[in-house]
Amino acid sequence: VNHQTARKPVIGGNWKMNTTLQEAVDLAVALKLRLTDIQDVEVIVCPPFTNLHAVDQTLAGSDLELGAQDVFWEKKGAYTGEISADMLRSVGVKTVIVGHSERRHILGESSEAVNKKGRAALDGGLRIILAVGETGDERATGMTETVLDQQLRESLNGFTEEDFASVIVAYEPVWAIGTGLTATPDQAQVAHEFIRNWLGSEFALEVAASTVIQYGGSVTSANAVELLGQPDVDGALVGGASLKPDEFAGIVQAQQLVLGGPARAL
Ligand code: 13P
Repeated sequence: VNHQTARKPVIGGNWKMNTTLQEAVDLAVALKLRLTDIQDVEVIVCPPFTNLHAVDQTLAGSDLELGAQDVFWEKKGAYTGEISADMLRSVGVKTVIVGHSERRHILGESSEAVNKKGRAALDGGLRIILAVGETGDERATGMTETVLDQQLRESLNGFTEEDFASVIVAYEPVWAIGTGLTATPDQAQVAHEFIRNWLGSEFALEVAASTVIQYGGSVTSANAVELLGQPDVDGALVGGASLKPDEFAGIVQAQQLVLGGPARAL
């Protein structure tokens, strides 16, 4: 399966644990100024929880959407420190990242937990960006596809074809995150094609054809055109470069260029 269809690319900015309230507002203002009239590409910014409401207000009237970095699977109650889908929606969040490798590896989150979070997010009216990806050791030992298969299988357990209207997959090789060691365009394409074929065989060809698969891992404005130009790469999930307004806007512009749209002056 290798459909270049009408999938609308999605560029996400994962701000991770960066920005105080004022820094977040300043960053949102800077992005809003640089990113106008972007109808061919969806752009989502994912600030820390503490800055969601302020960024939502700052982005009002812009083409930028609000996302969050995590969600808990219960609806409410005695879960100290956790944040529900309803809470996220109440501050304007439409999309939430689940299964980011930093949560899997630093916080010990299992694919079972990721599955429960994804389910709760969808049931709570959110769209998810499900992040998957192999470590450097796993790639070196030829385990990439085994790891992707297992992460996808466990994280999407119980999902239906209909659910995929609200699912984005982000392929984020762990060895490429925050390291400057971007996957080559070919490495990205091979992994994305594997994920797309997997969606086709485990769910439906229609799911494979329509699901947006983002690449994440040291994406910059300099390498974006080549990566985003791959047939199965439908956007990017950007960490470090999403904190730099010109860089992030440059990545969105690269996506527009790849689509053949007008290259806007920044
Ligand atoms: P970097 O772009 O900093 O490598 O981070 C990628 C990422 O983890 C996005 O979720």
